[in-house]
Amino acid sequence: MKISVIGTGYVGLIQAVGLAELGFDVVGIDIDETKISLLNEKRSPLYEKGLDSLLKKHVNKNLFFTTSNEAIKDSEIIFICVGTPQDKEGNADLRFLFSAVNSIKEFLTDSYKVIVTKSTVPVGTNRKIKDMLRDYNVDVVSNPEFLREGIALEDFFNPCRIVLGFENETKKKPRKLMLEVYSYFKKKEVPFILTNWESAELIKYAANTFLAGKISFINELSRLADKVNADITKVSEAMGLDPRIGNLYLNAGLGYGGSCFPKDVKALIKQFENYGLEPRMIKIIDEINEEQPSYFLKKIKNYYGSIEGKTFAVIGLAFKPDTDDLRESRGIKLIDMLLREGAIVKGFDYVEKARKNAILKYRLDHGKKHYGYNIRIVDDLYSCVKDVDGIIIAVEYQKLNDEDWGKISTLVKEKVVFDGRNILDKEKLKNLNFKYFGIGRNSFP
Ligand code: UDX
Repeated sequence: MKISVIGTGYVGLIQAVGLAELGFDVVGIDIDETKISLLNEKRSPLYEKGLDSLLKKHVNKNLFFTTSNEAIKDSEIIFICVGTPQDKEGNADLRFLFSAVNSIKEFLTDSYKVIVTKSTVPVGTNRKIKDMLRDYNVDVVSNPEFLREGIALEDFFNPCRIVLGFENETKKKPRKLMLEVYSYFKKKEVPFILTNWESAELIKYAANTFLAGKISFINELSRLADKVNADITKVSEAMGLDPRIGNLYLNAGLGYGGSCFPKDVKALIKQFENYGLEPRMIKIIDEINEEQPSYFLKKIKNYYGSIEGKTFAVIGLAFKPDTDDLRESRGIKLIDMLLREGAIVKGFDYVEKARKNAILKYRLDHGKKHYGYNIRIVDDLYSCVKDVDGIIIAVEYQKLNDEDWGKISTLVKEKVVFDGRNILDKEKLKNLNFKYFGIGRNSFP
């Protein structure tokens, strides 16, 4: 079966590579020529575990990349995986999606095809897509993705469920073709949810918003824990042992970032409002998350009085571990606030591409000051912490506990750690005479 995948970002690239690994003939299409030429050299434009080796295995064999939509002619299935970023009002911006649909039109022939929407789209969008393609021999299927960056390939091959939304649940042709594409997962007994377009579209927003809600819930609770000397990590551990609650997405910290949670929660709020409904619970999820970096900054400022002229090592630049993605990164938000308050920042992330992206963001070369910003991105943890007035942890890197904290304690100017992810072994730090401030975590000055 021949398959085209439009868009080679995080979603499209994983989909294309994953389907190639399952044995399909796949063409990945993107308007970005630089990305396509990199991919044709079997190099990934983004950092994702396992991607490089699968590109090496499949490119120019059963996986091709091109800027031309020509491949659509021979494809039975066309996955649309373009971005749906947030517009100024918080709605999902569907410009790239509709332009992809229009560009498909040109290459549709008389032979039957299934157009599959993988992009996260507001409820009602697949109906609009079908309307745009009403004169063509196509069916439209909604097939939301649930991939986590950093472990996206692992998620592709081991999904919790596959959701397929159809125009008409009794229509056999699109269902047959989709079940054929995903037959590998059927054999693995992955649950399939077959439903209508609108439910499939809503499932994606529901899942992401619910997980975001768990994070905001624990973050709100951590503010009380801070006041009453409770340890929020123990609270979530005990809560999570109840199988009705579960322990995942209950870690208090700087809040959620990335390309999905922040924009999807906001887009869901807009969808309620567009129907004249007030999304009370969902709005609060977003508000708490937006406040969280300032809540943490307040703790830092409380300790020093003023942070003007103080130097901080910020560990973690991307929005989470093992990714180069800075979108909505809480670390970057915090850095921006620190810089605005006159602090000096040395930033570090274990992922080299995350450091490179941060350098691009701040448009600076190593070691140089630009645009009045006192920021430097450094290549190793120990130079990052050297001579700083405080260490700030912005990403939940478990391996930080394996670092030589004895050595770190000799390098810093002042032994203070602000753990924005509650990840460090605070007893170990206490023994090294560090002052430790976590979030809702029995901090000790
Ligand atoms: C998310 C969804 O998990 C995925 O199913 C969806 O399709 C895309 O969006 P991703 O954006 O890669 O995936 O990030 P995820 O691993 O879910 O983490 C999101 C954010 O929440 C990160 O910033 C992380 O640091 C934060 N987080 C996560 C917490 O603050 N606490 C937690 O307990 C868990």
